[in-house]
Amino acid sequence: MNTVKFTLTHLESTQINPMARLVSISRAAKLVGVPRGTLQQRIQQGEIASFEGKLSLTELARAYPNAQFEDNSMLERIEQIIETAARNARVRSVKTSPDLETLAARVNILSDELAWAKLEISNYLNIFDKLKSRLLRLAQTHSQVEAEIIELRLWLLNQLHPAEPLPPPVDHGMPLLAVDTLLSIITAQVRLEPSGHEFLIEGNNSILESGLSAGLALNYGCSNGNCGKCKARVISGQVRKIRPHDYLLSEAEKLHGTILTCSYTAVTDIVLDAEEAGTVGDIPHQSITARVRKLVPINADVHVLHVKTPRTQRLRFLAGQKVNLSIPDLGDQPFHIASCPCDDMHLQFHIQRDDDDPLVQHLFDALNPNDTLQIEGPHGNFVLHEDSTTPIMFIAFGTGFAPIKGLIEHAVTLDAAQSLHLYWVASHKDKIYLENQCRAWSDALETFHYTPMISHGDSNKAASDLVTQLMQDYPSLSNMHYYIAGDSRVINCAQEALVKHGAERNWIFTEAM
Ligand code: FES
Repeated sequence: MNTVKFTLTHLESTQINPMARLVSISRAAKLVGVPRGTLQQRIQQGEIASFEGKLSLTELARAYPNAQFEDNSMLERIEQIIETAARNARVRSVKTSPDLETLAARVNILSDELAWAKLEISNYLNIFDKLKSRLLRLAQTHSQVEAEIIELRLWLLNQLHPAEPLPPPVDHGMPLLAVDTLLSIITAQVRLEPSGHEFLIEGNNSILESGLSAGLALNYGCSNGNCGKCKARVISGQVRKIRPHDYLLSEAEKLHGTILTCSYTAVTDIVLDAEEAGTVGDIPHQSITARVRKLVPINADVHVLHVKTPRTQRLRFLAGQKVNLSIPDLGDQPFHIASCPCDDMHLQFHIQRDDDDPLVQHLFDALNPNDTLQIEGPHGNFVLHEDSTTPIMFIAFGTGFAPIKGLIEHAVTLDAAQSLHLYWVASHKDKIYLENQCRAWSDALETFHYTPMISHGDSNKAASDLVTQLMQDYPSLSNMHYYIAGDSRVINCAQEALVKHGAERNWIFTEAM
């Protein structure tokens, strides 16, 4: 806390006006510790004023007067990163902080800004001096307005040199300015064009790593500087090469600011012209040999399989998609990826016992760590409609939880939706096989709600129980996105019941298992 308190005192003494600092919505959300979707909703409702998609720190402080900057998690993280940076500088092993060159470049830029601010203040003081002299001359030559001019001159002198020092200006945006200044030293913000997506680069990460961790589907291939598929053009801001790359950019590309996002980081806030996968058709078909990390038995019918891809051949996919897993001589089967594309090296699959299928039987009973599997894909259209900020209802019927889990993790990473609610409907509590995971999300995330439901009977009964519960929880079933996975009969019943009670049909997305 000492570093931050020192910064606040320093900034107050220099009387910088926080109104001058506009921050993006993503950054503003991080500063006050609320989901981006919540902030966007308040802007849309006219509760918070924005200017071309940005907010002034003063306006942000007005809207969140009770934000506890000294207690909030962002501040704690900043302190942790600074402490780690100091520790790492001693042991020459920087892991979570930006490297020293990047830090130095950012501090240089802030020094330049400070120098310009000082120059501007000195210019204003010169103007005041000239004004004083001219007022004095006027008072001496225009007797009829003499009294008024003398009064004006005295007022000006009093403003410039008060008898008693003025208290620091009261501006509740000041603590936010302090946090934002620190944030700009240890992180840089990236804005992608044409999508408008934004993310922060923390530590010594490349632009690509940070974009993927933020849940964005940036174009890339090898992640290693060899293929050139991660090319992007810097529209504004400064970048720095942090890893050598074998792929050769042409002179024309370099002249136009083209970089490889897997080999560069951002020194300042930057705007990039970068391609992102917008639909499943933008993701190439891949064939990867991956290794088993571990197989975790959950109960007698479900095991969770953890698989790791090679570092230089990760799986590009969209949350909710599936791949074919195969083992020589045992055939192949489609499995949903039950993890988030933000961690493209570590994939998770939920294996349901099936003694009639030799591949599934092998995956369930006979796999060992380091065994290899072939992955082909991805395929499937059950993916998140990422830019929507409406509340999202995730509904897993029985074993339909695997793709829903991937979607939830992705939605949490994107932080765009106003709220997320998971309903897991099963005929027996043992079929809700990752109850602890769902409760952990619910405990950790303010905007995430979880409702487990036991429903006995046929598909119609399960669908009707679900809709009854939804109507108890929400005043209206419209204006929400629904993602439903499970047996095709129960999905159809649920879809019809939802539409009948007000849900928009084209906002219901389903996956039959
Ligand atoms: S992803 Fe292959 S060069 Fe960057």
